[in-house]
Amino acid sequence: MKKILLIGLGVIIVALAGFYIWQQGMSIETAQEEVDNEEEGAIEEMKDPSEATYSLEDIATHGIEEDCWVAINGKVYDLSHFASVHPGGDSVIEGCGKDATVLFETRPTGSGTPHSENARKTLDEYFIGTLSQ
Ligand code: HEM
Repeated sequence: MKKILLIGLGVIIVALAGFYIWQQGMSIETAQEEVDNEEEGAIEEMKDPSEATYSLEDIATHGIEEDCWVAINGKVYDLSHFASVHPGGDSVIEGCGKDATVLFETRPTGSGTPHSENARKTLDEYFIGTLSQ
């Protein structure tokens, strides 16, 4: 009788251990899938800027300071790393996720004048593609 109980206990322990190992395997797979998906996203944003085109709808999905795309004069810029260091402060955030041409050229909350040549050169660093029609 004792022997049967011991065997039963052994079977339960082996089954539990098996289940635990199987679960670990599943969570590793899920983690790997998440990494794969993130990499796909990264590739999406690493397109060659001279060939990439984006619509206003694409741009609208990047409308916050930390994830800020703008269209200016038909070109698309990723300002995610620039918005927080913009010399004109928070006024740039108003343009995130939009065609910001008018804002860039008129600075309604500031001097009301177009940006300097220096600002236009800075813009080049953030170029990611062309605005599609
Ligand atoms: C899109 C919306 C933007 C708005 C509303 C905006 C607004 C402003 C404002 C109010 C100032 C302070 C000076 C002033 O009042 O004239 C300023 C300065 C400046 N901004 Fe922006 N800005 C925008 C985008 C950008 C972008 C995309 C860049 C470059 C990548 C940029 C670069 C600069 C620079 C370099 C200055 C210093 C003054 C100058 O060189 O013109 N800004 N901006």
